[in-house]
Amino acid sequence: MDRIAINGGARLDGSIPISGAKNSAIKLMAASLLTDEPLRLTNMPRLADTMFLGKLLQRLGASVVESDGPDGPQTVLHTPEVLGAIAPYNLVRQMRASFNVLGPLLARTGQAKVSLPGGCTIGARPVDLHLKALESLGARIELHEGYVYAQAPRGLVGAEIEFPFVSVGATEHALLAAVLAEGTTVLKNAACEPEIGDLALCLIAMGAKIEGLDTPTLTITGVRRLTGASHAVIPDRIETGAYACAAAMAGGDVRLVNTQVPFVQSLLDKMTEAGVQVDADAKAGEIRIRRGPERLKAVDLVTDPYPGFPTDLQAPFMALMTTAVGESHVRETIFENRFMHAPELTRLGADIAVSGGEARVRGVEQLNGAEVMATDLRASFSLVIAGLAARGETTVNRIYHIDRGFERLEQKLGDCGADIRRLKGDGEEP
Ligand code: UD1
Repeated sequence: MDRIAINGGARLDGSIPISGAKNSAIKLMAASLLTDEPLRLTNMPRLADTMFLGKLLQRLGASVVESDGPDGPQTVLHTPEVLGAIAPYNLVRQMRASFNVLGPLLARTGQAKVSLPGGCTIGARPVDLHLKALESLGARIELHEGYVYAQAPRGLVGAEIEFPFVSVGATEHALLAAVLAEGTTVLKNAACEPEIGDLALCLIAMGAKIEGLDTPTLTITGVRRLTGASHAVIPDRIETGAYACAAAMAGGDVRLVNTQVPFVQSLLDKMTEAGVQVDADAKAGEIRIRRGPERLKAVDLVTDPYPGFPTDLQAPFMALMTTAVGESHVRETIFENRFMHAPELTRLGADIAVSGGEARVRGVEQLNGAEVMATDLRASFSLVIAGLAARGETTVNRIYHIDRGFERLEQKLGDCGADIRRLKGDGEEP
C-alpha cells in the first residue's frame, strides 16, 4: 500500500490549480444513466472514486471515454441501453456515492438491484432517506441480503417530499429520480450544497425542468425523456479549503486558482478570524493565502449544512488549530464518529481531547513528525497538513483514502516547495 512521506518545515510559495469537484463529478456521472445520448463532462477530476464509478457504469452498459479535450480533462459517458440494472456489492462497497445509480436506473428502466453502500467509515451513514424518497415517488423497495431491490413497473410519479433533516445524498438521489417521474415533485428541506446546484444545472441542460435552485425547496416537473448535454463540473470547494489550510499551516504565500470564492466563504471567515491573511478575488476565482512566522489564534467552529462550515473541512481546520495560541472547540453536527483524525494528530504531538460530538484542541508550539494512519478521506488530508509543519519526517499510511479525493496531491504541494513524496507499496520510493 502506498504511503506519503513529508519532511516538515518548508514554506509554501506558488499557485495551486483546483480540480473539478469530486462530489459533483460522481453524481453527474450517475446522471448520465438517465439518457440514451452522450453526456460530456468537462473539468473532470481524475480520482480513484471517479474510476470506481466509471467501472460500475461500464458494467451497467455505459461507454466511459476519458480524454484531454479543448476545455481540459473531460469524460464522455454514453449508455444507449441499460444492461441488467444490477450494481454489485464489490463495486458499490468501494464508494458510498455509487449507491446513487439506484434512482437513475429505476427512473429509466423501472427496476434496479443495487448493493447497500460502503465508503468512508464516518459513523453509521444510513440510506433510509434515499429509500423513503424513492418510495414516495411510487417505487416498491425491498431489502434482501445486502441489496436494495426497487421496482416501479409503471414509472415513477411526482410527490411532495419533506426531508426530516438536510441530506446531500438523499436530495441528489430524489432529484435524479424525479426528473423522469410523471408530474410534479416538490423537495422540501432540500440540501443547498453547491454540488446540488451543479447537478440541477446539468439535468436542466439535459432537458429537465427544475426550479428553486440553491434554495431549500426544489420543484421538479417530470419530463418523458432527457437528452445528451455538455456540462462543466464546478471547482472542488473541499480541495480549495484543504489547500487553504495547508498553506496557512506551512506558512508562505499561495494562490489557489480556478476556484469559486463564495463556496468556501465560511472557511475563509474562520481563517481570517484566526489571523491568516486571506485575499479573495471572486471574479477571477482566486484566493491568496498568506501567513508569516507568527502563530495563529485559536478559534471555535461548528459544522453545519451549506452555507455553514463544511464537515469535510473540519479535520483540515482542526489540524491548523493544533499549533494556534489558545484553546479551540470544534463541534461536529453532521456525522457522528468524525474525529478519527484526532488520535493520529495526537501522535504528532497535538493536544486534543474528544468528548461526544466536540473536540477541545489546545494549541502547542511545535508538532513533531511521526508515523500516522489515514482513516478516511478528509481526515487523511489533515495529517498531511500537520506533517507540513511538523519537525522532521511524517509518514502517512493507507493513503488510498487520499487518492479517492485529491488529485496529484504530492505534485500540487511539491510545486509550491513542500518536501513530500510518495513511497510505493512496501515503503520503497518509486
Ligand atoms: C455528502 C458528501 C460528503 C459530505 C456530506 C455532508 C458526497 C459523495 N459526499 O455525503 O463528503 O461530508 O455530504 O456535507 O457527496 N443520513 C441519514 N439517512 C440518510 C442519509 C443521510 O441518516 O438516508 C445522515 C448521515 O448519516 C449524516 C447526515 O444525514 O449524519 C448527512 O449526510 P448526507 O448529507 O446525506 O451526506 P452524504 O450525502 O453521505
